[in-house]
Amino acid sequence: MADKPSYFVTTPIYYVNADPHLGTAYSTILADVQARYRRAAGYNVKFLTGMDEHGEKVAEAAEKHGMTPQEWTDSQAPHFKDLWKRLEISNDDFIRTTEPRQYKAVQYLWERMKESGYLYKGSYDGWYCVPDETYFTETQVEKGDEENGTPGAHLCPDCHRPLERVKEESYFFKLSAFQDRLLKLYDEHPDFVQPDFRMNEVRSFVEGGLNDLSVSRTSFDWGIPVPFDDGHVTYVWFDALLNYMTSVGFGVDTPEARAEFAYRWPANTHIVGKDIIRFHCVIWPAMLMAIGEALPEHVFAHGFLTVRNSETGKAEKMSKSRGNAIAPHEVIDLLGVEGYRYYFMTDVVPGTDGAISFERMEQVYNADLANSWGNLISRSANMSVKYFDGCAPAKPASADAFANPLAEVADGIFERYSARMDVFDYAGAKDEVMALVHAANHYIEDSEPWSLAKDPAKADELAFVIYNLLEAIRISAHLLAPFMPETSAEALRRIGAESEAGTDDLAGACAWGGLAGGAPVEKGEALFPRLKLDEDK
Ligand code: MSP
Repeated sequence: MADKPSYFVTTPIYYVNADPHLGTAYSTILADVQARYRRAAGYNVKFLTGMDEHGEKVAEAAEKHGMTPQEWTDSQAPHFKDLWKRLEISNDDFIRTTEPRQYKAVQYLWERMKESGYLYKGSYDGWYCVPDETYFTETQVEKGDEENGTPGAHLCPDCHRPLERVKEESYFFKLSAFQDRLLKLYDEHPDFVQPDFRMNEVRSFVEGGLNDLSVSRTSFDWGIPVPFDDGHVTYVWFDALLNYMTSVGFGVDTPEARAEFAYRWPANTHIVGKDIIRFHCVIWPAMLMAIGEALPEHVFAHGFLTVRNSETGKAEKMSKSRGNAIAPHEVIDLLGVEGYRYYFMTDVVPGTDGAISFERMEQVYNADLANSWGNLISRSANMSVKYFDGCAPAKPASADAFANPLAEVADGIFERYSARMDVFDYAGAKDEVMALVHAANHYIEDSEPWSLAKDPAKADELAFVIYNLLEAIRISAHLLAPFMPETSAEALRRIGAESEAGTDDLAGACAWGGLAGGAPVEKGEALFPRLKLDEDK
């Protein structure tokens, strides 16, 4: 384990109040692409996802379905696990907050918090948003009005739904004591929050002053019991955030667990949606500071997926309540799993909100995958089979007998690609690969292998051209593998480089001239058949 550097990446753990949807799948695929890329780049990766099972929202969903909360969350776990499997999510761990390991870790957290001096008992009197599982003070509350048909109502300033009045005995975490330390963290580690424009949002929130946070509930019992006070259960976010440390052995007193914790913690990147940035960039680091544990290196916040309202023309957040949610299987049916992954990862820029549409999915799929990448593979494999008896030409003896524009494009490609991947600029990374794919398609037109094949004196040049095309495919397949693992492995297999799939030396694999040549090449079916959308989509 320790012979490679660790890379620990996490998704939010999802509330189990409804089935996973495109938005939750988006966070998960973002993390999966990073995990696959890091494995290929030589890291020992831990990729964690899971389910957030406590809190009022989940208890309400259970009640609505006539089940106990535990029965309900047990019944939902397969929905998440099955969708992740279908979307080729390569998580190494799946945590559920109702598992014994989470109970133990949270109870250990309580002990550490108590020792820290940042915990006190008091009484909470204020507002609570159940859908967001968030507390709001009187001054933060949005007041309803006649115009919106909500006169006198107390609404959530974030999601605008009615708030619940809560008055109960509670433990408080002294969040207010961490204002200066948090601001210092943001100053000293400007890339703690990514992309950088999100940092301003976090900073101004903290500069505005922090309230102590109620971290236990007494009017409610679906949570992890506070070990030293009967009747108190843990506030769902105090429990949920800890999942990241639980999964790497926090609070387990064995040599193995301590070694695992030392190797994995702190996490490299927590991937979250912009709606939960305060929990991850304010509360979570303060909790860790209080108990003296290391802070995660980065929190990467993505925007929301939006859809255009055909009546108003405006982009709106995709959600079930608005009735504009697209189910993952609708997109999978259209684009296939790998087309789905490619579209969301390369066309929906993760920093800001991203508008999605079936029209755009079709354009991207046809332009990049059917016409460019898929076409390159089939034309090159066809020519290998036709002109070289079903095999790849041997590696050319001399690299500079003829001009080789593809080697020039591929020169330094790993460095350019990884500089983009490292900062989650997946669109930028894709552009680097597509530059090679486009150059290869142009190279076919410019070098006219079909004319070379007619002249026996040009046999060496023909072999050179076809070898270069296969080599461009080999390198592109490696670089596209984090986005599209199956089709990339298939492309490698078709050009006789099957054993290279799943490399942990991506830099080495991208060096020009790696294809041995001479191995059987297979034409196969089109990897990305062109698609035509139904008019009514
Ligand atoms: N349970 C908490 C997270 C705890 S992490 C310690 C939670 N769960 S959630 O299921 O409501 O949301 C999980 C993630 O899905 C969030 O990052 C949220 O931003 C994301 N998305 C939900 N709807 C979305 C879109 N329409 N678009 C993109 N992502 C969105 O919050």
